[in-house]
Amino acid sequence: MSKVTFSVIKADVGSIGGHTEPSKPMMEVIHNRLRKAVEEGKLIDALATHTGDDIALLMSHRGGVGDAQVHQFAWEGFLAATEIAKDAGLYGAGQDLLVDAPSGNIRGAGPAVAEIEFERDPKCKHRPAEAFLVLAADKAGPGAYNYPLYSVFCDPMHNGGLLLSPKLHLGFTLTIIDMDHKAKDSDRVIRLDVPERSWDVAALLQNPDRFAVEAIHSRYQPQEQVVSVSATRLHNIAGKYTGKDDPVSIVRVQGIFPAPEEVVEPYILGHFISGDARGSHVMPLMPVAINTPVAGPFCLPLVSCLAFSMDAKGRFARSRVDIFGNVVWDATRLKIQQKADEWRRQGFIGPTMAAQAELAYTGIVDTLAALDKEFSLRKEQPVAADDD
Ligand code: 13P
Ligand code: MG
Ligand code: MG
Repeated sequence: MSKVTFSVIKADVGSIGGHTEPSKPMMEVIHNRLRKAVEEGKLIDALATHTGDDIALLMSHRGGVGDAQVHQFAWEGFLAATEIAKDAGLYGAGQDLLVDAPSGNIRGAGPAVAEIEFERDPKCKHRPAEAFLVLAADKAGPGAYNYPLYSVFCDPMHNGGLLLSPKLHLGFTLTIIDMDHKAKDSDRVIRLDVPERSWDVAALLQNPDRFAVEAIHSRYQPQEQVVSVSATRLHNIAGKYTGKDDPVSIVRVQGIFPAPEEVVEPYILGHFISGDARGSHVMPLMPVAINTPVAGPFCLPLVSCLAFSMDAKGRFARSRVDIFGNVVWDATRLKIQQKADEWRRQGFIGPTMAAQAELAYTGIVDTLAALDKEFSLRKEQPVAADDD
């Protein structure tokens, strides 16, 4: 038996003509580095994709979660792509590399990190095959997966598998992180078992700007991790708005876990999330094909989804399925674009812009602070006494 770690590490290190997509030479340098690392045996297998302007490195290896070498390798790849972006005058070169030369694990240094370590054993009874989805969102806050994950793991109205599969029926343990906790040496997390604590989970996930699902484990024994989400806040690291968090997520599927069709079902809604232009609006999340640039009005939040299989040695099947690239999502896309158009007719007033706690990291605070000084207090006028 041998353990394999699947790591997805993603960063925006520059894009063409605004926050659209990385350039081909940037992707080439990343592809070449990944190919070399696999040839040299540093990684078992690897692939690079982009969703909007974010480059995602998908890597299998034996180093475990948070492996310093794998993280450093990813960081150096992003640095190499940054140099190419700078030379070509691309926008936002090195945008998500927020810390100077982080040592070891780069979680909290800017790039989004989702990782799961698991046993890869074809003889194992409960998990002879390994299948998983990688979701990558652009122009999106880290709570972007709250609604779909709640729907899939807590709500049989969305996921009939919770009723039909005795293994799923045992429930799951959700780890939810408080993203407002800013201490350098600790995370603030809560673990809740569902279905018993579903309403408590709902009470937290209601606020996706503060609370996000970080991990989900099976309650089927042996406990297996089914979900990992990169739930960190860039503005908590940088202290100001430097770009959106654009979270990535791994969801293992089939067998003791939900099926892929159950995992992607909630994405037909086009649920509202914080993100969009300047990361400062509330807009619906649109499922798109892998390697899609951001080119529409508003900078609509996007999410891509790739389906993988992994062999006993930790190698990916040579072809993959681009789930949201399929024609069945065309009607959803049209509906979501129309939903966005209608919603944004309201401009900036009230709920179409992100919550005040989010806007507090943008330039609007300077305007409000200046205006604050112009306010004056008007004394209440006494009501004239009645002479009669
Ligand atoms: P990214 O976080 O994808 O770079 O987008 C930032 C932005 O402000 C888009 O308007
Ligand atoms: Mg960008
Ligand atoms: Mg981005």
